[in-house]
Amino acid sequence: MTTSNLGPRIIVALDYPESGPALELVSGLDPQLCRLKVGKEMFTRLGPQFVEQLIGKGFELFLDLKFHDIPNTVAAACAAAADLGVWMTNVHASGGRRMMEAASNRLQQMQEPPLLVAVTILTSLGQDDITEIGYPGSPAENVLRLAQLADSSGMDGIVCSPLEAQQVRPQVSDSFRLVTPGVRPSFAVQDDQKRVMTPADAIHNGADYLVIGRPITGAEDPLQALRDIQSEIA
Ligand code: C5P
Repeated sequence: MTTSNLGPRIIVALDYPESGPALELVSGLDPQLCRLKVGKEMFTRLGPQFVEQLIGKGFELFLDLKFHDIPNTVAAACAAAADLGVWMTNVHASGGRRMMEAASNRLQQMQEPPLLVAVTILTSLGQDDITEIGYPGSPAENVLRLAQLADSSGMDGIVCSPLEAQQVRPQVSDSFRLVTPGVRPSFAVQDDQKRVMTPADAIHNGADYLVIGRPITGAEDPLQALRDIQSEIA
């Protein structure tokens, strides 16, 4: 896979408690320049109709619900996401090989399956947290192990921090997509993100897609912010 067929590299995270401000933002964005991400909060409040509404506006959509359950249930949930027409959806790699394979196999039976990516170790978890859960080794070692498990279990990629992308990229197949939040353009503040990287550095580290929220959603001119990030990448 070459980077030229990845399409827009920026995924705008819509994190709003209601549809009004989200739709207002989206009306000023360009589907040629970005994709959209809907997560647990908006999906739980607004449901599948909201997702269909955004797709109806011409945007490709990442439905970020991070499924983690028994293989049959996760496969069925991924199929339901695919039926909504989403471009990407995700699961937790810690659900294991059989869960990921079941989801991947189910999607491969569909006409135009969405990309299916796995979350490795949540970036909110530190060493103490993962030791307490019972995972041996460092967070970075666990990310790498789970990335390789995801790659060999039929996933199309993983979600990871741009710092982890650098370690993961050489250890997975070329077509394996790395989706990275925690990106802050040079003109933006860090907000509550701790380990951040600029868009250009994230891409340089091997990221394929950048999940960016507040630097775009909170900008006075979101379309201009999007364009500025595009030129930082270019
Ligand atoms: O506003 P901001 O750019 O920080 O938004 C980042 C988005 O990526 C949010 O939707 C957040 O939930 C998500 N995310 C993250 N860090 C992770 C995984 C997801 O910031 N490790």
